Amino acid sequence: MELVTYEDYLEFIRKHRKVIIEDVEIELGKEREIESYSPPSDYKLETTTIWSFPDRGEWATHRGDYRGNWSPFIPRNLILRFTKPGEWVLDQMMGSGTTLVECKLLGRNAIGVDINRNSVMVARDRLDFSYNPLDKRYVEPEILTYVGDARNLDKVRDESIDLIATHPPYASIVSYTKARVEGDLSALNLEDYIGEMKVVAEECFRVLKPGKYCAILIGDTRKHGHYVPIAFKVMQKFLEVGFVLKEDIIKQQWRTKITREKWRGWGKQGFYLIAHEHLFIFRKPMDGEKLLKYSSRWW
Ligand SMILES: C[S@@+](CC[C@H](N)C(=O)[O-])C[C@H]1O[C@@H](n2cnc3c(N)ncnc32)[C@H](O)[C@@H]1O
Repeated sequence: MELVTYEDYLEFIRKHRKVIIEDVEIELGKEREIESYSPPSDYKLETTTIWSFPDRGEWATHRGDYRGNWSPFIPRNLILRFTKPGEWVLDQMMGSGTTLVECKLLGRNAIGVDINRNSVMVARDRLDFSYNPLDKRYVEPEILTYVGDARNLDKVRDESIDLIATHPPYASIVSYTKARVEGDLSALNLEDYIGEMKVVAEECFRVLKPGKYCAILIGDTRKHGHYVPIAFKVMQKFLEVGFVLKEDIIKQQWRTKITREKWRGWGKQGFYLIAHEHLFIFRKPMDGEKLLKYSSRWW
């Protein structure tokens, strides 16, 4: 893992005013006016296992222009539900840094990692705003960003993280590989991808404090007319390394552009448009914890 500081970002934008991530041009270092630092006033924490955000959320510096980025409502819900101010959150496949922006707004320390240096620069760019809330309890958090591989978080100490909130590529459904970044998980075929996600799961288990939570958002696909349950395959790997399943949240997908273009719902091909993803929330058991019957490890 290689640390990328704010100064590294400033140095980068002196030479590059934009990056291209999978055909999408993203401008860096642009002056911007922030209209709001928080979600709409009617925002409430989710209380059921079905989450749906038709309006993805564009407060602070959040934008939907990074291919496959997640709605800021997702990390916000996770952070508020599972951490306290000053605790440490990890997103080791952070893309444009949505999770980190939420950490900055909510006063949580954070570590963000991505295999693609350009993505780390986008995340740094999104973090480049000043924030002085009226809340006297707010303490500006420490936010560290790295170019690195989720399979080897060598700069993250064992049992140092309070929450993992991350959103891996779904095998090669959305490819991040046009830039040919060595180690990109979206370049792998399905079998290899599932195998490497087990290594990701092992690293998650190592860095998380016992009793704490690891949330991953993951979707499925179709191949040759079959439904391919990538999410359940990945879930199995997380269980194999020692996690127990706390929640399986169904997240409705509103922007299924690629899928829609290919299949247009129940049409000629005769199958449904996949319009959901799974947000699995795993818990790392306490040392010596006796797992109860019906915990996912028992099955
Ligand atoms: C679905 S995107 C994450 C989007 C992010 N949640 C956001 O809101 O912008 C997945 C990210 O995983 C990164 N990635 C792929 N393989 C990786 C690896 N081995 N280690 C770390 N990051 C990786 C890709 O570069 C991509 O940015």
